[in-house]
Amino acid sequence: MGETPSQLLAAIEDVGRDRTRGGYSRHLFGPAEHELREWFVEQARNRGLDVTTDRNANTWAWWGEPGPDAVVTGSHLDSVPGGGAFDGPLGVVSALEAVRRLRRSGRTPTRPLAVVAFAEEEGGRFGVPCLGSRLLTGGIDPDRARRLTDEDSISFAEAARRAGHDPERFGPDSSALSRIGRFIELHVEQGRGLVDFDSPVAVGSTVLEHGRWCFTVSGQGNHAGATELADRRDPMVPSAAVVSAARRIAAAAEGARLTVGKLVPEPGGANVIPSRVRLWLDARVPGEGNTRPLVAELAATARDAAAEEGCEVAVSEESYSDGVSFDTALRGELSEALGGVRELPTGAGHDAAILAKHVPAGMLYVRNPTGISHAPEEFAEPDDVEAGARALTRVLERNAG
Ligand code: GLV
Ligand code: MN
Ligand code: MN
Repeated sequence: MGETPSQLLAAIEDVGRDRTRGGYSRHLFGPAEHELREWFVEQARNRGLDVTTDRNANTWAWWGEPGPDAVVTGSHLDSVPGGGAFDGPLGVVSALEAVRRLRRSGRTPTRPLAVVAFAEEEGGRFGVPCLGSRLLTGGIDPDRARRLTDEDSISFAEAARRAGHDPERFGPDSSALSRIGRFIELHVEQGRGLVDFDSPVAVGSTVLEHGRWCFTVSGQGNHAGATELADRRDPMVPSAAVVSAARRIAAAAEGARLTVGKLVPEPGGANVIPSRVRLWLDARVPGEGNTRPLVAELAATARDAAAEEGCEVAVSEESYSDGVSFDTALRGELSEALGGVRELPTGAGHDAAILAKHVPAGMLYVRNPTGISHAPEEFAEPDDVEAGARALTRVLERNAG
């Protein structure tokens, strides 16, 4: 032991590299995510922590008896497809390192302290982000969760079973929730906010309301060469209209962010007019209740564009999260403990934001010099990573007594 958080990140830098996309693809219950969990368990045990996995496949490492009013920190180990090295793991390694430093300083917390790695934070495999924390807090119906499928039509229930979890036990976990006195998640900054502050660390203030919608556009599969334009019912044409309309609608609504990051034509041949296109909209809009109306506006545009091409479109909401304002008192405490660091809003979702509806939750962000995230270029300088670990250690020290 004795590793810095940067060294801990280096220890897992080869796990789940995506040779095709670049960056990392570490999806729930896949080999890379499994390896990271095993690594996390080993690191936690090396630090004298007791490891348990809850009913919803979240892994907890406890310092002291699991009990009420615990100070909990941590983040997640899964990634988006082709994601960066920091989103998720930075919070986990910083938490492990904070525990090591607290132990080294001879401190024993007066309240239980836990490091958690939440399952499927990105929704990279089953489409719903923060699945582990949502299930734990009752934020998703366990039946619906069990039926979610991945790209190979494997259900979440089946994948969980294969990974050694019992999907019948998925669901609200009041005993796990009741143990959390406060949750503090450290995370790499995912925009350029901290660059502008000229500071390595900030405290999270708010998270934008956001959600994901699947647009399924159906037409008639056909021959790319033999089919006259007039005879086509090509779902790619209205799909393209949806992509441009998403940008137009977002540009007209202050601060709105609408993204189509995934589009799947079927059957997907270069000389085949698709029979169906599915595209996924990620929408995030400031204020309360402003996201669904923008999605409805886009859905109306999609229907018009589909009708013009003789196609049909169906829109389904796959996930939705209210906007969150983190606990004001905790924000103040975090900022004060760190010598008055600034607060920063974000458009990125986090398990801390799911938990914030139930327990005091807060976040620390570590500067990202380019602001790029969910991409291989995501980065934090080692000095800033160290500043983050120091900040988290200080905050835990204050909180755990
Ligand atoms: C998670 O990073 C998200 O906001 O999508
Ligand atoms: Mn992310
Ligand atoms: Mn994350």
